[in-house]
Amino acid sequence: MKCKITNYKLKPFMSFGKMPIANGFLSKKNFKNEFFYKLEVGFSKKLSLFQINNHPKPSQMFNKNYPFFSGSSKGMINHFRKFSKWIKKNYGRKLNNLVEIGSNDGTFLKNFQKDKTNVVGFEPSKNVADFAVKKGIKTINKFFTFNNVKRLKKLKNQIDIICAANVICHVPNLKSLIKGMDFLLNENGLFIFEEPYLGSMYKKVSYDQIYDEHIFIFSVSSVKKIFNLFGFYLIDVIPQKTHGGSMRYVISRNNKVKKSVKKYLSIEKKSNVDNFKGCKKFKLNCEKSKKDLVSKIKKLKKQNKKIAGYAATSKSTTILNYCNLGCESIDYICDTTKEKIGKFSPKKHIPIKSMNYFYNNLPDVAFLFAWNHKKEIFKKEKKFQKKGQWIAHVKL
Ligand code: SAH
Ligand code: TMP
Repeated sequence: MKCKITNYKLKPFMSFGKMPIANGFLSKKNFKNEFFYKLEVGFSKKLSLFQINNHPKPSQMFNKNYPFFSGSSKGMINHFRKFSKWIKKNYGRKLNNLVEIGSNDGTFLKNFQKDKTNVVGFEPSKNVADFAVKKGIKTINKFFTFNNVKRLKKLKNQIDIICAANVICHVPNLKSLIKGMDFLLNENGLFIFEEPYLGSMYKKVSYDQIYDEHIFIFSVSSVKKIFNLFGFYLIDVIPQKTHGGSMRYVISRNNKVKKSVKKYLSIEKKSNVDNFKGCKKFKLNCEKSKKDLVSKIKKLKKQNKKIAGYAATSKSTTILNYCNLGCESIDYICDTTKEKIGKFSPKKHIPIKSMNYFYNNLPDVAFLFAWNHKKEIFKKEKKFQKKGQWIAHVKL
């Protein structure tokens, strides 16, 4: 599938090779039907936009078996509590109607349950949407597209705030999404969203942010250019610690732009986040990171160390397949998600085990795939920490 925004050329600059669906944890019986695609990244000069070139259809990823629950991380529950407080503090007085795109299990919207604000989430993955509904959170089990939104005639120009976290980068047809947003927002309405930040990915060489769901890795420069095409303005940006470095973007119909936007545009220019030079450097950094990781694992295996993966993240699919690491290196991956336990990792087919299995079969070395949840995990894994060694492909 190709992405739709406007006509723009993408200059490809790097391939991560043949990849499976990043969250496609699977049973043995499905090994033979596994889907693969070529994961390549490119950059649009016109939009300063970093994106993957080709990706599976959204329905192949977001369906009744979506295995990611926002509530699986205490850190994220906490973050969404703070995010909702920030919204109430800054915009609460006028907040009657709020919509969330990609509301998942309702972790964010739950924070509005006691208020008078009417909230509704758009969530295409049925299993997580059902979970939210059970908690009493109004959820429309559909993709947020213009065609789905325009049917909600009563909501036309009624919404004060549309929120989203870690989902806008998943949406190939940004034009349809922005048209839907335009349809719902009232005159002073705001679109506030958070996404993994390109500047942080470059700095940390956290190439594992790149996988099928993350079609775009946004920056302040690209978000500004994209929304300007549709008559919207980027009026504020606020960096976030989540997901190894994210950015919160505030989009409005009026042009009262805060200083933060200018500040970040200038930082991005200086650090080549807004141009192709940044891509070239990132590619070299990824290749070095891969070489270093492979030799580190080889060395540990030579010393007969048992290595387990900690957290079967979607990001780990990119690391394991780009670096060609399988069961010969990683014995198993432990995870808290019941939908993943008992299954196997995409393409490399490393078994996914419960946390109990981890505690009963402590490895010498744990590869922290959920490095973005380091604080929370180190705090609870003191026992392992005493004897074992943590490693990751990024600096911990
Ligand atoms: N916002 C949550 C969930 C992020 S995962 C959090 O930050 O933890 C992305 C979620 O967006 C998934 O639940 C997925 O099903 C949903 N999603 C994907 N494409 C979407 C679209 N076009 N419209 C609405 N939701 C979408
Ligand atoms: P993600 O990086 O694709 O969002 O997935 C995070 C995964 O990490 C999810 O499967 C849950 C898992 N996880 C643990 O197993 N233990 C933890 O302590 C945390 C925070 C996450």
